[in-house]
Amino acid sequence: MAPKETDELRQSWIDNAAPWRDAVRERKIESRRVATDAAIVEAVTALQPRTVLDLGCGEGWLARALSEYGIAVTGVDASPELIAAAAELGGGTFLAASYEELADVLGDARFDVAVANFSILDDDLRPLLAAVSRAGALVIQTVHPAFAVGEEPYASGWRTETFRAIEGEWPRPMPWYFRTLSSWVDELGANGWSIASMREPLDAQGFRPLSMILECRR
Ligand SMILES: C[S@@+](CC[C@H](N)C(=O)[O-])C[C@H]1O[C@@H](n2cnc3c(N)ncnc32)[C@H](O)[C@@H]1O
Repeated sequence: MAPKETDELRQSWIDNAAPWRDAVRERKIESRRVATDAAIVEAVTALQPRTVLDLGCGEGWLARALSEYGIAVTGVDASPELIAAAAELGGGTFLAASYEELADVLGDARFDVAVANFSILDDDLRPLLAAVSRAGALVIQTVHPAFAVGEEPYASGWRTETFRAIEGEWPRPMPWYFRTLSSWVDELGANGWSIASMREPLDAQGFRPLSMILECRR
């Protein structure tokens, strides 16, 4: 049975859909402005895909950005509210589905690249990794494990995001599953993926990475 954090995680993206949409569209998140948005677009377009599956697409900014390169993007997200927001602005085909439902929803569809931009937040990667097993590459941008702020020990486990650092009214905190670097390598490996290359987008001073981007191959 899924842990209670999984349900709370899912619900948080329903309840926080409006402030999240506004935070992304009004560019309220500094790390995104400084580096991480451009870095994920660069990482995906460098692979020259014709088709991209945007996993946990949220309000759809990445799909819109990639569509400007002529890429056909399919966005999926478990939050119907965020999928509705994405569909309003277009730039792709958007489907409300969880990663657990993805294999059934996608059927035989195959994508040149699957991308997950800060959207792998659950403790169990297996449904997601199984559903994208036929993609040509998997690109993941996530918190840099060595630079995750907080007082917690360096160990994989559930943490809580309150969104306090982002302006807006956030009705619900979000549980999310932190992974150490070795856990990322091991879990991807156990599911048939290996890390072909890694990027570490830096802050404006060049003092520390704001994220890590893993380009994974079967
Ligand atoms: C931090 S937001 C990132 C959204 C978008 N990728 C972006 O860059 O703005 C995380 C997204 O992942 C989605 N998500 C998390 N777990 C999911 C799951 N198991 N199935 C589908 N979507 C999920 C959430 O609904 C949310 O929209």
